Amino acid sequence: MSKDDASNRMVSGEGRPEDDGALDRALRPQSLDDLIGQDKVRDNLRTMIHAARARGEALDHILIYGPPGLGKTTLSHIVGNEMGSAVRVTSGPAIERAGDLAAILTNLHANDILFIDEIHRLPVAVEEYIYPAMEDFKIDFTLDSGMHAKVITYHLKPFTLIGATTRAGLLTGALRSRFGLTHHLQFYSEADLLAILRRAADKLAMQSTSPQRAIDDKSLKEIAQRSRGTPRVTLRLLRRVRDFAQVRAKSKVDHRVIEDALALEGVDELGLDNLDRSYLRTIANVYQGGPVGLEAIAATLGEDSLTLEDVVEPYLLQIGFLARTRQGRRLTAKAAEHLNLEWRPSESETLFAAE
Ligand SMILES: Nc1ncnc2c1ncn2[C@@H]1O[C@H](COP(=O)(O)OP(=O)(O)O)[C@@H](O)[C@H]1O
Ligand SMILES: [Mg+2]
Repeated sequence: MSKDDASNRMVSGEGRPEDDGALDRALRPQSLDDLIGQDKVRDNLRTMIHAARARGEALDHILIYGPPGLGKTTLSHIVGNEMGSAVRVTSGPAIERAGDLAAILTNLHANDILFIDEIHRLPVAVEEYIYPAMEDFKIDFTLDSGMHAKVITYHLKPFTLIGATTRAGLLTGALRSRFGLTHHLQFYSEADLLAILRRAADKLAMQSTSPQRAIDDKSLKEIAQRSRGTPRVTLRLLRRVRDFAQVRAKSKVDHRVIEDALALEGVDELGLDNLDRSYLRTIANVYQGGPVGLEAIAATLGEDSLTLEDVVEPYLLQIGFLARTRQGRRLTAKAAEHLNLEWRPSESETLFAAE
């Protein structure tokens, strides 16, 4: 697998095994107070949790959606901590049959949380069993078939389903409507990422007030700027810079160390990597700047179109490098400038793209 492969990118928000180390667990915020950014989500959850606890009831079902690495899993554990409830973690593709779901649901204690990651990949046959479970805390089972068919109803303890997805659009309306709350996680501001980095550097003993003065705010800011609005990426870049500093620069981090460490990873000053750049160059060079369909770009790059849509496009759209039009994807003048492309969209196209 090449280093530029979508699933193996330094700047991908997607989880990688190295992200799950003890260090990463130590950096995970545990409570709503620990959580940085996402103010609206936090305030909303705080109110809901307060009310549910006061009534001694399970929290309403919650759907969290947004690009990888923005804190969906983290939030669900925080909700568990704040409710004083256990969190049972599973994922859409792991629940293959209705029986799997029944086994999980009947083992939950009152007010427990069931976290279903990638809930958009829940099999259709399972989905219909989840409706009565969510609405009435019961699950109906048909035993045998034909003349001897018998429906057995299991009564469940009240629980909270937290569903996470990178693509709310793939959820059926029926499922979506059964969540009491839907939270859309947004990319983080540079200030929020800086706060996350400060706390992490603290824990990594890289804080500028520590005797070694290993990393200062200016350097942390540089890392924040290259993190594509994503906490998972920012923490990964910090670790990489720290490792690089240890080997190359006696643990002192400065502008040069950051430049070199990230250049080694192909990450540029905006946090774009080789895959982002090949994606943009493909539209520019092969398709004259677009508009071009996603499938065509994916085929040219030899990447999966869903992956491009999940992990490459959201940030490029966010920073105004890409416009998604009815006719397809189109590059903006800003992107052409960043890549030093000779190609420039015509005036009217630029206006259109900036809409
Ligand atoms: N608001 C936040 N403040 C601090 N760290 C965060 C925040 N959100 C996410 N993280 C960190 O970013 C990483 C990715 O978060 P995660 O919840 O696994 O993302 P997702 O489930 O959306 O892919 C984790 O290491 C987590 O500690
Ligand atoms: Mg997750």
